[in-house]
Amino acid sequence: MQVLPSLDNSYLQTKGDKIISFGSMTECPGSTDDEIIDASGKYVLPSFIDSHSHIIFAETREGEFVDKIKGASYAEIAAKGGGILNSAKKLQQMSEAELFDRAMLRVKEVIEFGTGSLEIKSGYGLTTRDEIKMLRVARRIGEESPLRVKTTFLGAHAIPKEYSNRQDYIDLVIKEMIPQVAEEQLADYIDVFCEEGFFTPAETERIVDAGINYGLVPKIHANQLHISGGVEVGVKTGARSVDHLESMGEEQINILQDSKTMPTLLPGSAFFLNNNYPPARRMIDSGLPVALATDYNPGSAPAGNMAFIISLACIKMKMTPEEAINAATINSAYAMDVLGTHGSISAGKTASIIITKPISSLAFIPYSFTGDIIDKVILNGKFAYEAK
Ligand code: NIG
Ligand code: FE
Repeated sequence: MQVLPSLDNSYLQTKGDKIISFGSMTECPGSTDDEIIDASGKYVLPSFIDSHSHIIFAETREGEFVDKIKGASYAEIAAKGGGILNSAKKLQQMSEAELFDRAMLRVKEVIEFGTGSLEIKSGYGLTTRDEIKMLRVARRIGEESPLRVKTTFLGAHAIPKEYSNRQDYIDLVIKEMIPQVAEEQLADYIDVFCEEGFFTPAETERIVDAGINYGLVPKIHANQLHISGGVEVGVKTGARSVDHLESMGEEQINILQDSKTMPTLLPGSAFFLNNNYPPARRMIDSGLPVALATDYNPGSAPAGNMAFIISLACIKMKMTPEEAINAATINSAYAMDVLGTHGSISAGKTASIIITKPISSLAFIPYSFTGDIIDKVILNGKFAYEAK
């Protein structure tokens, strides 16, 4: 992870939506009909891969933000029907069209931050109708925006208040929601919020196994607030990733070492909730790869700026700039199965790239946290954003 291959004084050639070649400027093929972008003094990077987001939601939750400033914890707010249940109530009342329009404003924003691939979760519906509504919106974002989108069914995000018997809701997820999601081919992955006060490891495993039977690949919310058992379930069920990992013991690190599951860190939510950061340095030094993502959501990370996530990784988790950029591109591409087309500058991959403003070094990107470093974003070979 420490090595980020790079070339100075180079060209990059694209055709249609693909990268066709790159190399030293002395070998630049160029022809007079080509459109040429002069990137002197600038960096050309693969677009960021945000492999964990809840970008579809109805309303923001800054009321709870203020409650937290005054001392309430995330768990206390959730226990009182705030948090995820609050978001679900608002989303259930909103039409699919309105939800799409609101999500697209955030999609435009993350594209301007340099994101080219985005994983989008459901989980604020919590009824069959509303979970399906969210996933339809997510699929439509994939069709109508230039982002490469993967979708995740997260019906097991919280137990709605009206269920006095939690097994009834879990049965609904397993017997009704998963089959319908699969029938309409609305999701690539199945996720569960495996955490004290949400879903136990045994419940997580049951739900994930049901998803696997319908062809969904697991990605698990694990160890956000406690060592929840989510890492163990994730590895046991062959999860593509286990995400959050603010709480990690040696045992959980060891379990991940013998797996193909990508540990995915979401430092934006640790920042926003004032929680411990995941022990990235310990994980990397023990030989694990890590991916980075935003967790963009209204409750624990209301922002989708991957460059800021890279800054947090460096400043708060002691990752080097090279490690953090690898985590936000190629490793995150693995975590959402877009490695064949995205996540690096390679001939044959999709021409989804960022051109920075003139900057003095790669380290300037995390160093200038929240700095305005992006000049152009090109997605699928077309301009998606140009700074004024
Ligand atoms: O990843 N932890 C569970 N889900 C989200 C937060 C959801 C919310 O608070 O709305 C997360 O942090
Ligand atoms: Fe999340």
